[in-house]
Amino acid sequence: MTKPESHLAIQQAMRAAFPQAEERVARFYQMQEYHLGWRNEDLTPGEADPGKLIRPQLVLLATQAAGGDPAQALPLAAGVQLLHDFTLIHDDIEDQSDTRRGRRTLWSLWGLAQGINAGDGMFVIAHLAIHRLSATGLPPERVLTVLRRFDEVILHVCEGQFLDLSFEGDLSIAPTDYLAMIGRKTAALVAGACELGALAAGAPPTTATALADFGRSVGLAFQIEDDILGIWGDPEVTGKPRAADLYRRKVSLPVVHALASSPEREELARLYTGAPMDDEMVARALAILDACDSRAYCATVAAEHHAAAFAALDRVPTPSPTAARARDQLRALAEALIGRQA
Ligand code: IPE
Ligand code: IPE
Ligand code: MG
Ligand code: MG
Repeated sequence: MTKPESHLAIQQAMRAAFPQAEERVARFYQMQEYHLGWRNEDLTPGEADPGKLIRPQLVLLATQAAGGDPAQALPLAAGVQLLHDFTLIHDDIEDQSDTRRGRRTLWSLWGLAQGINAGDGMFVIAHLAIHRLSATGLPPERVLTVLRRFDEVILHVCEGQFLDLSFEGDLSIAPTDYLAMIGRKTAALVAGACELGALAAGAPPTTATALADFGRSVGLAFQIEDDILGIWGDPEVTGKPRAADLYRRKVSLPVVHALASSPEREELARLYTGAPMDDEMVARALAILDACDSRAYCATVAAEHHAAAFAALDRVPTPSPTAARARDQLRALAEALIGRQA
């Protein structure tokens, strides 16, 4: 499947997981569909940014690289993307973010309580999507294996969110603490997408492990690049406000690095602990990060994880020319993420 074709197929599989709603509860699902980009703020049908759909693409390519049929794995791809979207709905509440993918966030439009409940709904629909694997002919024991691993992965994501929230305001975070956190909040699901794709194909453990290792390294690099974008990204492209992570005083990798190595670390620490930062204070924090090359440091760390990802991919045995082509596409997808702008 080419990329736009797979985007369409993934979104169709996501739609298929939603139940037929009674009129009385239609808005419950429509709010979720708003988050997914399928509806406008007034809940009329629309076509807004659904996100990059990286994780479901990884599922389909991993299935194929492991010798399986990607068409059979579509419900799994849909489930993984719905799960990702569930985490974003709740993450925007946890982070008090008003903007996501260039639009108002669900909770900022319909309130905290409906936001939490809409997220809960999407968590369940993600699971229902995966149950639909049975209908594509996957043996029941394989569906169970996939579901169990899926739930283990989600728990890791929740652990990561726990650490991320716990780190807020803690200026003693070391790079190893930071890596333990992003390994869970982001890399667990990217690794999971690749591993679950292999499990759906019935691949042997060596294949599933190598694909999981590839995904974990891609996920680490991806989150570090997200941290770079959270400070230096172009709002027109990221769909998030400029320097949003500095205004929020997020202790992301550029800040962890500056707090450890900048001669102006005490001033940065003061900016991060005093009154909320205004534009001038954010400009000062930016100048401190720039003076100690935090951005270049983060780009180097991300590049190391990308290199580890490519090494893991080389360990994936491919049982056929089609599988080998899918592995090449996985490499191309990871390469396209290097230095991404959104
Ligand atoms: C955003 O993920 C949250 C992170 C884990 C960094 P993406 O950058 O994949 O978000 P969308 O789905 O493309 O919007
Ligand atoms: C999002 O992390 C990770 C999950 C949703 C699990 P962030 O809070 O760092 O990502 P953005 O900046 O909101 O996309
Ligand atoms: Mg967030
Ligand atoms: Mg967050």
